[in-house]
Amino acid sequence: MENIYPIFDITLSREAKEDVLGQRSIAIWLIGLSGSGKSTLAKNLESRLHTEGYFTKILDGDNLRTGINKNLGFQDADRMENVRRVAEVAKLFVNNGIITITSLICPTKKMREMAKAIIGESDYFEVFVDCDFEECEKRDPKGLYQKARNGDIKQFTGMDSVFEVPDNSQLTVRTDIDSISKCTDLIIGNIIQHIRFEI
Ligand code: ADX
Repeated sequence: MENIYPIFDITLSREAKEDVLGQRSIAIWLIGLSGSGKSTLAKNLESRLHTEGYFTKILDGDNLRTGINKNLGFQDADRMENVRRVAEVAKLFVNNGIITITSLICPTKKMREMAKAIIGESDYFEVFVDCDFEECEKRDPKGLYQKARNGDIKQFTGMDSVFEVPDNSQLTVRTDIDSISKCTDLIIGNIIQHIRFEI
């Protein structure tokens, strides 16, 4: 980038921030179909971590699309930009010592690779929130599957827009089989060694 001079050495280190917070930070990158339970899991995860004294931030696709990402739609290029911005924001939080839980469909491998590259491999923990398409459609918590079936929403993920099933997520949880509480336990069990503060 021309004529841009970022200054990093005047800011406190990430470690100094983590020390104050008494934790180590990572990005917990939840991906999955609409209605798979990502937001519910993110909320449960946050509340469990809060109870255990951890400081977190949720970045939720629907919420961010009312603010920082409100100029983006659902074509591939816009989803890519959506994911890029969320990954950049997640990186800012993680570098400030905050455990960051994202909740995005993030439908393609290319998007996930980009997110991992932006955040950094060692700070990126991808969780596939796996729920059968039929089950997501049955749940239809926002009525969007019905709208998509009626032709009122175009490029709907899993219908006329792709969702590539991941094959290298660090963890897969099955919200169509297991309870939210069990899925939350599983995630915490897998990330605890990354966030626990050890002097
Ligand atoms: S992503 O594909 O760019 O990662 P993101 O997670 O931000 O998507 O937004 C998905 C949310 O937007 C869904 O949970 C749903 O509420 C809403 N939505 C609206 N239109 C669509 C669509 N065409 N496909 C998928 N989700 C949609």
